[in-house]
This record gives sequence, C-alpha cells and structure tokens, in this order.
Amino acid sequence: MKSLLLATFLPACLIAADESPDLSKMKVDKLYETLCASCHAADLSGGQGPSFLDGEWKHGDTDADIFQTILKGNISLGMTPWEGILTDEQIRSLVIFLREKEKEALTKGIEFPKPELGKVSKTEKEDYTIEMVVEEGLKIPWALAFLPDGRKLVSERPGRLRVISADGKLDPKPIEGTPKVISHGQGGLMEVAVHPDYEKNGWIYLGISDGWWEKGEGTDKKGKKNKDKAHTITAVVRGRIKDHQWVDQEWIWKADKKFYSGSGVHFGTRFVFDQGYIYFVIGERGGMMEVQDLTNPKGKIYRLFDDGREPKDNPFVDNKDAIKGIWTYGHRNPQGLDLDPRDGSLYSTEHGPRGGDELNLIRKGANYGWPVITYGMNYNGTPITSETSKEGMEQPVTYWTPSIAVCGLDFYTGDAFPGWKNDLFAGALAKKEVRRLRIEDQKVVEEEVILKDFGRVRDVVDGPDGFLYVIFNGPDQIIRLVPAK
Ligand code: HEC
Repeated sequence: MKSLLLATFLPACLIAADESPDLSKMKVDKLYETLCASCHAADLSGGQGPSFLDGEWKHGDTDADIFQTILKGNISLGMTPWEGILTDEQIRSLVIFLREKEKEALTKGIEFPKPELGKVSKTEKEDYTIEMVVEEGLKIPWALAFLPDGRKLVSERPGRLRVISADGKLDPKPIEGTPKVISHGQGGLMEVAVHPDYEKNGWIYLGISDGWWEKGEGTDKKGKKNKDKAHTITAVVRGRIKDHQWVDQEWIWKADKKFYSGSGVHFGTRFVFDQGYIYFVIGERGGMMEVQDLTNPKGKIYRLFDDGREPKDNPFVDNKDAIKGIWTYGHRNPQGLDLDPRDGSLYSTEHGPRGGDELNLIRKGANYGWPVITYGMNYNGTPITSETSKEGMEQPVTYWTPSIAVCGLDFYTGDAFPGWKNDLFAGALAKKEVRRLRIEDQKVVEEEVILKDFGRVRDVVDGPDGFLYVIFNGPDQIIRLVPAK
C-alpha cells in the first residue's frame, strides 16, 4: 500500500527503476534538485509545496521538526515521506541546506554598516570610527599582542614576528632567531601572546606549525619530480626578546613525532593565561575520529602550567594512556579562546564543517563531539552524520548555519565603549564580519554584526587602550575601532 501511495508522489525519475539515479552518492544540492525542486521550486521559493525562504515553518521551526516533516511527509497534503528512500544523514544534510538558503534569503537586503576609514559607523550600542593601525608591509598577519611599553607584536603566518613601535610604526625588520616554522597550508607562525607577568619575566609565547620537510626523491608515475613532503603539527614555545633577537627559548608543548603529518589544515592554536596555567588548542589536522581518542593529540584543548608542566588535577591524569595535558576533546578547529572577565569561564569558537561553526563553553574533561555529532555537513554537500546531540557530548552555546568561519574572539573589557562592556567579539573570515555577542548566564542573548566587508577577519583583540583591534587577511591590514566623537 505504502509503495503505491509513494509512487504517486515520487518524481518520475525515481519511479522508472532502471533509470533511477544513485541517491547515495549525491551531494545535497543535487538531492534537492532531483527530489524536491519539482514541488518546492529550484530556487526554493515554493510551488505545489511551500517556500523555504520566508522564515515560516508550518510544522515547527526547529531542525528536529523540519527533519520529521521530511522523514514522515504528509501524504494527504501532498508532501512525500522520504523515510526508507533517504538516509537520516541525507535528510540531515537537506535540513542544513534549507537553513542555509533561508538565512541567506532573510539577510539579503538588510543594510549592514559598511565601514570606511574616518566615517562614523552606527551600531546598536555604540558608534565608532575606524583608524588604520598598519596599512601595508604585513603578510598574512595572524595575531596581535600588546607589550606594556606601548609596543605591539604581530605574527605573520609565513614565519615572521614583527614589532610595531609605541608611536605606531611597523619595524621593517622581523625579530631574528624565532623558531623555524613549516609554512604549509594553513600552518606557519600563528599565535603570539605576552605572559601576564611579562614585566617581571619577559616571556613571550608562540604557537607554530613545528616539524620538518622530507626531500622529495625520484619521480611519480607521470615522470614529474616528487615534491618535498611536510611533517608538521602545532607546537607551543616561549622565549624572550633582547636587542631584536629571540633568546632563552623553551618548548612548552610538542606532540610525539608519530603525530606529525602532511596535512595542511586545522592547526587550531590561540592561548589563554589564567592563574598560572596556559590553555591552548591543537586542531584536528583533518584527523576525524582521532579527535575522540585521548592518546592522540589532535582536536584537543590543553591546560598546562605556563612553564609546560602537567597539572596533577587535569581530567585525564588517571587514564594510563591518555595525553595528560588534555583539558577537553572532540574539537575540530577552534581558533578563538578567551575568558569571560565576569566569572572566568572559558569560551572557544570552532570552525565547523559547512553549517556547523560553534561557540563552546569549555568545561573540564568534556567531549565536544566532533565528528560524532555536528550541526554541519561536508563542504561539498555530502553528509557527515545525522546526529546533532548525544548523551555525554556537549552542545554548543550557539552555532552558525550557514557557516561564517569563526576565528579569533575576545571579551571586551575596556572603558572606551561602555555599551560593549563584557560583550564577546567574534571574527568571521569567510563572512568578513565582526559579530558582537552578549552573553548572560552562559547563553547568547544578543547577536549583532558590527563590521562587514572590510576584509577577511583573522582576529579581534581587546586593546589595553580600550579600542577594539581587528586583523584582516586580504587586505593584510590592522585597524582599530575608536568611539565616534
Ligand atoms: C510531490 C510534491 C513534493 C515533493 C516532491 C516534496 N515536497 Fe515537501 N511539501 C510538499 C507539500 C505540498 C508540503 C506542504 C504539506 C503540508 O502543508 O503539511 C510540503 C512540505 C514540506 C516541508 C514542511 C514545510 C513547513 O512549512 O513546515 C518540508 C520541510 C519539505 N516539504 C521538505 C521537502 C524536501 C526536503 C523534499 C525533497 C527531499 C520535498 N519536500 C519534496 C510537497 C512536496
């Protein structure tokens, strides 16, 4: 009976069994086009079935509701049930796809403040103007740190550490003798951070892609010379700067050699200092299930004493085989980390796959679920999993569909913008945005785009002068937001 009923609603291409396309390998946009477009229109604007672009959901507007409608359909009203035809993973990808398109449609035409130098930009709580900090001379700036004497340090991903003088000039000469980095894919010199007691101890910390190049020997099948192969993973190192030289170097954390790999993606990084500890991130390096393995360093947030020693009260010290520095696991590629100045809780932004960027509250020993649960799917539209939650795995504080590519984040602690006090600022590389999030009781209660389309945002930094610094990649510039007069 069911199959008969189904046949009335299935697109013709599926009924002629011998011609039916293989759904299992289809990417999400193709699935939509093949199975849904006939009733909901190719541009999702609706036809025989309703539009997906108007923000209205007759059968409930949560992802779970939409999932159920697709699964069970509504034969009497003409909506095909897809149970048994599509897998849960495929239905989940369709939900993400509908959400992406809905969000795009709903934000279209909304005017975001397009900032320009010198022009006043108005936002909900504060008006600002933009001042240029470094206009030219930088190559892929990654992080910015402030020295107590007014100088600033900037890391450049290809491997240089640069100094901006107290009067704002970029020194053309990088610091000499900084550790060699493997500049490969997304890796290189990434984080730079100044120890909170820098005035007493002079320590500066760097997050780098450490490793070596293996010389390419011989030729491949086509007779082309084999390329050199990278072996790399994120490492943490500290040192001091004397007379423009990197000196007194000490390694804080390095992975076992067997985990160094040729992958050019997901290095993580970012440091936070708190009460004698350093927290830092090692990205998943494309490792997928390795992330769930406590004997593997990838996809973890770590806590060590700031000299590299392992604290005895870390969550996995009693697990014989676990890496003892691990604080939390199940991460993909977190590139933002900061402490809430009000209660000391630790937040992290994490690059998800397509549709699964997350803001997480980092709790000792917790598992953040990658790749077992996620709100996203693969970039190419094939599914990862249908699961968005599971017992024993943390839910994000919030997540972004479509993805914005969340990178650096900082709580604002300054006085120059009183309306932004204690708000969280998150940069978005792909969306070229800075977002302001207001967090109350560990929940997001406001979210606002305060800057858009100036460039790809790498990091947002709360400056000691109370101004909000923003680092861009393409153009490779640093600006700061100052209150509008
Ligand atoms: C034969 C036509 C037809 C096809 C094919 C079809 N739908 Fe529908 N769909 C409908 C109709 C009609 C409704 C409205 C049913 C109702 O009012 O309950 C609907 C409703 C829905 C809803 C609920 C919307 C809301 O407001 O709650 C979702 C979600 C949905 N369809 C998704 C899909 C997806 C995804 C596909 C492809 C896998 C698909 N549909 C294929 C006809 C179709």
